[in-house]
Amino acid sequence: MDSFSTIHDPAWDSLLEAAWRAWANAYAPYSHFHVGAALLCRDGSVHLGCNVENASYGGTICAERTAICAAAAQGMKPEQALALVVVTEAPTLTPPCGLCRQVIAEFSEDLPILLANRRERALYTLSGLLPHAFTGRNLQ
Ligand code: THU
Repeated sequence: MDSFSTIHDPAWDSLLEAAWRAWANAYAPYSHFHVGAALLCRDGSVHLGCNVENASYGGTICAERTAICAAAAQGMKPEQALALVVVTEAPTLTPPCGLCRQVIAEFSEDLPILLANRRERALYTLSGLLPHAFTGRNLQ
């Protein structure tokens, strides 16, 4: 069975650890809602993301998009994203917002996404969270 296809696959462990490290760097002076993300690429590289808020509010960037942009800046191309972890200390798990789902779809339409807090986790796929995504194919 592929790694990351089951919720308790040990392959998640180091990615979870990386996401909590990013979480510690969240810049969220307005919402105080800290989010961490870690994205694994096919070449083994791990890219961290945290939410970065802005006084204009609309300038805020979510942890998931920060991770995607960090990976893209290092050369990630579509189909190279392998797995994403998103962590918060919120009592309920935090799913990626709609805008983040769209940005993730650009790089992997079926990305396994593990959501976690300090006591539970849940496993989704991007296609489950964003069925019938609008992609570059729609522009051809
Ligand atoms: N946020 C994320 O970073 N990721 C999500 O999936 C949901 C929301 C951030 C944006 C903002 O800084 C804070 O959480 C509250 O919305």
